[in-house]
Amino acid sequence: MKKSNPWLNQHLNDEYVKKSKQQNYRSRAAYKLIEVITKHQFIKQDSYVLDLGAAPGSWSQVVSNIIGKNGKIIANDILDIEPIKKVEFLLGDFTDEDVYNQLLKLINNNKIDVVLSDMSPNLSGHPSIDMPKSMYLCELTINIAVKILQQNGYLFMKVFQGSGFDDIIRSCKNYFNKVTIQKPKASRAKSKEIYLLANQLK
Ligand SMILES: C[S@@+](CC[C@H](N)C(=O)[O-])C[C@H]1O[C@@H](n2cnc3c(N)ncnc32)[C@H](O)[C@@H]1O
Repeated sequence: MKKSNPWLNQHLNDEYVKKSKQQNYRSRAAYKLIEVITKHQFIKQDSYVLDLGAAPGSWSQVVSNIIGKNGKIIANDILDIEPIKKVEFLLGDFTDEDVYNQLLKLINNNKIDVVLSDMSPNLSGHPSIDMPKSMYLCELTINIAVKILQQNGYLFMKVFQGSGFDDIIRSCKNYFNKVTIQKPKASRAKSKEIYLLANQLK
């Protein structure tokens, strides 16, 4: 008899996995964003959004359903995604200077309403390797958000709890008047991921 795989069992029984299949979202991650948007209403009709770490695309799908015909999404990932309406996708590593500059070029001095980042590096399981990589992604995300967001814009970003976490909060508070920590129900309790929601640039 085949041994059951605990991860696979958990995945198949996960209510968000089931829901995402029924509602045609590409990943259960959609429900993390839906919960926080529903509470804080920071993506609206006509919003202009940057989605970092967008693959396979469920956050962009959620946003695309909200922003109407005048809204727009620029999305980036190292992995390619299937096309989504209203999404202009840039393939490449966000930490690569060329890719960072290409994103700025696509934004073309327009002001962005919301920067999303669900980026997580390939995790090795060793915090001393994973945490610095993740913190670097967060620092670079804050850096681009401060350049491109409109004054009342929002940054919604994944952060892993651990060494360097307090520095990221401090960094966000340096630039934004309002910073709150969000742990949506779809984010597994045992996962060290949480999300920061920051707005009102100083
Ligand atoms: C949890 S997934 C994002 C899921 C996505 N929010 C969705 O709803 O479909 C994290 C993504 O971050 C991407 N990523 C990690 N490091 C990156 C980098 N340096 N540049 C761009 N994307 C990166 C990964 O390729 C992965 O697709």
